[in-house]
Amino acid sequence: MDFLEKVAAAELPIGNVGPANLCFLAAVASTIGATRMLEIGTASGATSALLAAIAASTLAEQNLPPAGILLTTIDKKSRCLFDDSKPIGFMIADLAPTLAPHIAIHTEQDSYLARTVVQPGSLDLAFIDGNHQHPWPLIDVLNILPLMRPGAWLIFHDTDLPAIATQLGVPQRYGAQWLFESWPGHKLSSDNIGAVALPQDLRTLRAFLEAISMRPFEVSESGWNRYRKMLADSFSYAFQ
Ligand SMILES: C[S@@+](CC[C@H](N)C(=O)[O-])C[C@H]1O[C@@H](n2cnc3c(N)ncnc32)[C@H](O)[C@@H]1O
Repeated sequence: MDFLEKVAAAELPIGNVGPANLCFLAAVASTIGATRMLEIGTASGATSALLAAIAASTLAEQNLPPAGILLTTIDKKSRCLFDDSKPIGFMIADLAPTLAPHIAIHTEQDSYLARTVVQPGSLDLAFIDGNHQHPWPLIDVLNILPLMRPGAWLIFHDTDLPAIATQLGVPQRYGAQWLFESWPGHKLSSDNIGAVALPQDLRTLRAFLEAISMRPFEVSESGWNRYRKMLADSFSYAFQ
């Protein structure tokens, strides 16, 4: 709670997960006792610091010190989207300085990197908050699935982005919403964020994910052939 108050009081740049959604993220991560996590979309690092703090407090409840990498976080850029003068992850030093050695930040990368830097079957939780244009959130899910332990959870941010985009007068993006709303099985949501439980047998997700892959892409049409190839590769990886 101290940490949440600190992060909610911090001047969060526009585009960061806001205080109410941070509470949801913290509640799910702590309730499931997550201590090994992955984040796609670091930006300022506010959510990275929060997730690492939850992992550390879960370990502390078991009288264990933080050990190794608690959170791996990946961002496509090297400078913060909201403030180009700052590096990706700059808020970690303020919000969770002692946990910085336990947070692995990878910049100028995407979820394909996770395949090589995260041990298969090791993650309790993955937070997907990168590119929200379909098919990116789907590609992220496919690249992450083999890294999750049975019964782990995924959290999608911006599940209500189409409505928010309408209010702001910016293009609607359905990538996260389609995955969350049609997800088969147990799920929870609040406002603009949603959590889904992974089934014990990940192969049961294949038909659902293939159906989502057929929906019209939201990325630039000039790249559609490349995205089709990326999807094919990610399906092979997820369901090898
Ligand atoms: C909404 S921000 C993340 C906010 C952050 N989770 C927080 O609230 O503290 C989205 C970030 O995803 C990054 N991004 C965009 N496309 C990506 C991709 N394909 N893979 C990884 N990161 C991506 C952007 O550079 C941006 O920093």
